[in-house]
Amino acid sequence: MTTRTAISTRWHSRFSFILAATAAAVGLGNIWKFPYIMGENGGGAFVLVYLVCIFAIGVPVLIGELLIGRRGRNSPGFAAQNLAKESGAHKSWQVTGWMTMGTGFVILTFYSVIAAWAFSYIFKSASGQFAGAGTIEIEEIYTNMTGSVSELLLFTSLLIAATVFVVGKGFKHGLERAVRLLMPAMLILLAIIAIYAAQIGDFGAAVNFMFRPDFSELTINGVLIALGHAFFTLSLASGVMIMYGAYLPKETSIVSTSMWVAVADTFVALLAGLAIFPIVFGYALTPGEGPGLIFQTLPLAFATMPAGILVATVFFVMLVLAAFTSAISMIESSVAFLVEKFALNRWQAALTSGLVLWTLSLLTIYSFAGAEWTVLNWHFFGTEMVNIFNVIDHITSNVMLPLGGLAVALFTGWAIKGQFTRDELGGHPAIYNLWRFCVRYLAPLAIIIIFMQLIGVIRF
Ligand code: PFF
Ligand code: NA
Repeated sequence: MTTRTAISTRWHSRFSFILAATAAAVGLGNIWKFPYIMGENGGGAFVLVYLVCIFAIGVPVLIGELLIGRRGRNSPGFAAQNLAKESGAHKSWQVTGWMTMGTGFVILTFYSVIAAWAFSYIFKSASGQFAGAGTIEIEEIYTNMTGSVSELLLFTSLLIAATVFVVGKGFKHGLERAVRLLMPAMLILLAIIAIYAAQIGDFGAAVNFMFRPDFSELTINGVLIALGHAFFTLSLASGVMIMYGAYLPKETSIVSTSMWVAVADTFVALLAGLAIFPIVFGYALTPGEGPGLIFQTLPLAFATMPAGILVATVFFVMLVLAAFTSAISMIESSVAFLVEKFALNRWQAALTSGLVLWTLSLLTIYSFAGAEWTVLNWHFFGTEMVNIFNVIDHITSNVMLPLGGLAVALFTGWAIKGQFTRDELGGHPAIYNLWRFCVRYLAPLAIIIIFMQLIGVIRF
């Protein structure tokens, strides 16, 4: 067996890492998904449960992933392999790295298509298609877009090409630099929209909705959704944070940077809520409409609000920026893997990953646009129609992410030598012990309970 060289590239600074990890975490999950699942699950009480999940389970797993990356110093699969070996643990533990890396890649195959929706909405907004439009027109714009192979193909291809370009340029000149430019831009745009929304919308109703918990609105299923989303939103169990950990300098505190990333991601999710819900309530729209919240509900307000064309355009530009920096983070680990395994250069590796990604994204595109293709759309038990996208989305979010999170928790809590984890985390013993309790007992138990519930509600 040849010995792989350990990754020697490092983040430029601690701040640069926090920015990049936050940019990876902040994406469609914060702006598209969080507001609509909050809307569907009754607001305030859901937010509280979500916060508990982020800090009691998400942060410990995030710490575990950064630790695996930094100690392993390779792309996720190899990093876990190195660490299992070094710990004298069974070699099957390396599956933690391979599985999470695979999950991230599969998520990216549909993530880039949803990002393409937002991309195409920039042009629809800017050309004034929403101006004065009513429910029926907006519904039509939405179904025409998701039904158009050429449109989805165009925008998905552009997004993937841009991702390949940035990652191909290398770590410092591509990824790190892109994030340094795009992330602040995204935050500024979001802040502007939130301020404007507070002016023209019903800010009080939004705050009430988001921060006044009404536990009668919360179901057990809502709790499950909150946990699953805690993983998704922090980009856990998808190889991303293990990969980013591999570039982390030895002296950076993993515990405190993890806290920062979680706080920043949560802040953006709440800010997105404060940008969207004042508009929703101010324009007498309903918050619980599901995935169409920003693609169908929100445009109804853009249609009539002052400067609506501009606000809509800025909103979707901001969304694409957020999604793009997440897409970059997801492809990084497969690129690093190809470089390590086959000694490709960054460009070759990025192009190869991009090509595979593009091909697999066709599955999602045709799931929407090729509804008449029976190969991709099945009727199970003659009831609901599912397509490949539903299956991929369901399996990654509800099966792969919890399983991957469980693997990370068990791997770092039980399989890796305690001496190594203590060495990596340093700091106060009480904090180390708290973390260890979380990854050994709390997180696995919570994940298993929730996972079993989810299995119970799988319905095809
Ligand atoms: N954290 C991203 C978001 O909230 O949009 C989603 C995500 C990115 C999940 C990257 C998984 C991943 F590998
Ligand atoms: Na997120």
